[in-house]
Amino acid sequence: MNDAAIEARNLTKRYDGLVAVDGISFVVNGGEFFGFLGPNGAGKTTTVRMLTGIIQPDGGDALLMGRPAGGIGAKQLSGIVPEMANAYIDLSGWDNLMLMAELYGVSLREARRRAGSWLQALGLPQRKDSLVKGYSKGMKQRLILCMALISDPELLFLDEPTSGLDVQSARLIKDLLRSLNESGKTIFLTTHDMDEADELCDRVAIINQGRLVAIDAPEKLRTATSSLRSVEVSFGGAVPLETLEKLPGVSSAKKLGDKYRLYTASPGDLVTSLVNHCRSCGLNIVSLSTLTPSLEDAFVALTEKGDGNG
Ligand SMILES: Nc1ncnc2c1ncn2[C@@H]1O[C@H](COP(=O)(O)OP(=O)(O)OP(=O)(O)O)[C@@H](O)[C@H]1O
Ligand SMILES: [Mg+2]
Repeated sequence: MNDAAIEARNLTKRYDGLVAVDGISFVVNGGEFFGFLGPNGAGKTTTVRMLTGIIQPDGGDALLMGRPAGGIGAKQLSGIVPEMANAYIDLSGWDNLMLMAELYGVSLREARRRAGSWLQALGLPQRKDSLVKGYSKGMKQRLILCMALISDPELLFLDEPTSGLDVQSARLIKDLLRSLNESGKTIFLTTHDMDEADELCDRVAIINQGRLVAIDAPEKLRTATSSLRSVEVSFGGAVPLETLEKLPGVSSAKKLGDKYRLYTASPGDLVTSLVNHCRSCGLNIVSLSTLTPSLEDAFVALTEKGDGNG
């Protein structure tokens, strides 16, 4: 037995001459909140579609809890929030939920109970009987999440669920996802929002031009790009850039307005040597801050590296 919830083995998809997904392999563990991060056109949606059996791969395979993706067993395990809204606009929110429940063979009694509680959690109970065509984008997206949850799936796939939503709608969705994950559900979330991935995910895979360029915990991806750590400093008087470049531990330095950005693998040591240097030559430090790379810095560094290979 293995406890892999999702397994991609050499998964590949081509469109005409274009390799949209280029032989990617990864494992998502049971109960994990997994982020799938990449720029536009990287292959995120194509990957989700293969994992959820909406399209067939041209090579490799995907397993959901050991069952082939696309098979009926795997489909029963999954809830999907696709990139494009899939609710019927001429039905009410409630009727969409009941229809989805019927497709998944959920009893009416259970469907009503779940629908009521998810609509409540996502702030939609007053609008449940209105036609979906009158819903705002954020309301539609929240309804689609309710629909994905109606079968009480083990695995939840979400393709950019908060894209284009206001802060409040996005917050409702993120809070619910976090609590679903805490209750044991495995979540596969595609996003190009670094902060969202950082905030929610246990591990993040970064895909660029159809290939995985990194897969790790958000903090580890940040520290892996430790050469991006820096100290930003400004002084009470003029300091030649060359002097700063020669300080121990500085890998490079640049001037940004009245500040200097000094890149280093060990910001703590650099601050000490800066202070010592300034003391010895009677120079004032006006401001000083240590900057750790954001997940976005890591993302840019890793995807730029990927471009070189492509
Ligand atoms: N049905 C299709 N026919 C032809 N090309 C496609 C098709 N679907 C995807 N592609 C191409 O495959 C590549 C990956 O697309 P995909 O939609 O998976 O990217 P994505 O990472 O989801 O991007 P976005 O962030 O814009 O949603 C793109 O170059 C896209 O144009
Ligand atoms: Mg997409």
